[in-house]
Amino acid sequence: MAKQDIATVILAAGKGTRLRSRRAKVLHRAGGRALVEHVVRAVQPLGAPIFVVVGHQAEDVAALVRPLGAQTVLQEPQRGTGHALQVARKSLAPFRRAIVVPGDAPLVRTETLAALVEAHRASEAAATVLTAVLENPAGYGRIVRGADGAVRAIVEEKSASEAERAIREINSGVYCFDLEKLWDLLAELRPENVHRELYLTDAVALLDRRGERVAAQQADAAEIPGCNTRAELADVDRLFRRRKLEELMASGVTIYLPETVVVDAEVEIGPDSILDPGTHLLGATRVGSDVQIGSGCVIADSAIEDGAVIRPHCVISQSRVGRGAVVGPFAHLRDGAELAAGARVGNYVEMKKSRLGEGAKAMHLTYLGDAAIGRETNIGAGTITCNFDGVRKNPTTIGERAFIGSGTELVAPVEIGDDAYVAAGSTITESVPPDALAIARARQETKPGWARVRRAKLAAEKSAAAKPLPPKANGSRPVAKPARAQRKPKRGKSSRPVR
Ligand code: UD1
Ligand code: CA
Repeated sequence: MAKQDIATVILAAGKGTRLRSRRAKVLHRAGGRALVEHVVRAVQPLGAPIFVVVGHQAEDVAALVRPLGAQTVLQEPQRGTGHALQVARKSLAPFRRAIVVPGDAPLVRTETLAALVEAHRASEAAATVLTAVLENPAGYGRIVRGADGAVRAIVEEKSASEAERAIREINSGVYCFDLEKLWDLLAELRPENVHRELYLTDAVALLDRRGERVAAQQADAAEIPGCNTRAELADVDRLFRRRKLEELMASGVTIYLPETVVVDAEVEIGPDSILDPGTHLLGATRVGSDVQIGSGCVIADSAIEDGAVIRPHCVISQSRVGRGAVVGPFAHLRDGAELAAGARVGNYVEMKKSRLGEGAKAMHLTYLGDAAIGRETNIGAGTITCNFDGVRKNPTTIGERAFIGSGTELVAPVEIGDDAYVAAGSTITESVPPDALAIARARQETKPGWARVRRAKLAAEKSAAAKPLPPKANGSRPVAKPARAQRKPKRGKSSRPVR
């Protein structure tokens, strides 16, 4: 049977000891995605079948990559990068070549991988290594070249001589292999190194010894960094963030002080939208065009439609803000909050699983939970939907053009009809029909002159208390005891009577 041309193998079974984490390295996130997810997405456009070698937290890694169309191969235990490829041998049987990519080097670009495959196909080489020249090559395998420029060996830092350590050309961990030449050679790998592992990098010297050519293709150093330490993870995250913001700015989004703005990989933003400093747009957030987002907003997995204005310091998750709607400052929309076009939510308003119809408003200090509110309705300051009875969440339904007075409590389940009024300060426990007025508060009693009478009474009491006491028989005045003397002795440890 004729072999298929090429497959992709992503090595993602390692633990990542240097991160000092209980979590597998490739599950750590940078730029809003797990490292391995970045790698899968980078190889996807190559169109080759994808195999991910999993081991540490195999199930979690598999759950992440399978929906992206990758298959997984279990490496258990993990005995090194060379062993990882041995384990994948069966899956790779139908293929002539493989492109191998480490799961912890998320910055590599699709074009770079495509160029590597292209170069490999065009050459006679049995393997082609993607390399880069780094200012500081510490921690990477060094590329040892022969006089003809071919790669003689890759030497891991820990086994490198002084002279080899001085080499600044390093191994990216990305390779293209002719598989037929690789398999029996992998069987010759020996764990003769500090980690007692089977190094894929040792395959290069073995190929060279057999008279096979190993070529090198240089890439931009910026695409190479792996995430072996938390400091490297932070660097990689920063690079992703900058890449993303540069793409957005190039597409017509204004971003002020971009070094303070965090935008996840999947976020989409339309042209002429403006992000103020300190904005965070996370997860699957979609922002339309001409949207303004004020300082300090954190928006996750939400849709903000064209022309909406989000004032500073709003927290919005899993919610939708319609066209031209205005939110904040200091508003909290969560779990399916929805503002129809032109609706407005002001400061200190929380909305959960609630919908404000077109042009409806809740401008101040309000909680709306499990509520559906019709168009043009006004929710007064301090309105609270009492949606939770201790056991269940109950709905509140308010019609169109209704007016809910300030300080209203709506004890759900309850319905307020279209065009109805609720008087300020009401505690509404029964539904209100359309066009009605509901008042549910104690009736006010006003006592004319009461305050004046009270003032006079208080003044009289005060002057009586201030009057000097009549002199005693001996003519002397009683002396008020000093306040201290009247105090009970402190019941401290020292003064407690011993029993
Ligand atoms: C590796 C290379 C090094 C290169 C560097 C580039 C080896 C021996 N060294 O070093 O030359 O400069 O990458 O980033 O290959 N993995 C498995 N199974 C295992 C061990 C590792 O799947 O048994 C996976 C890891 O999850 C990781 C990748 O392989 O995603 C690379 O392993 P890692 O331990 O990070 O290798 P480095 O020491 O960085
Ligand atoms: Ca690594």
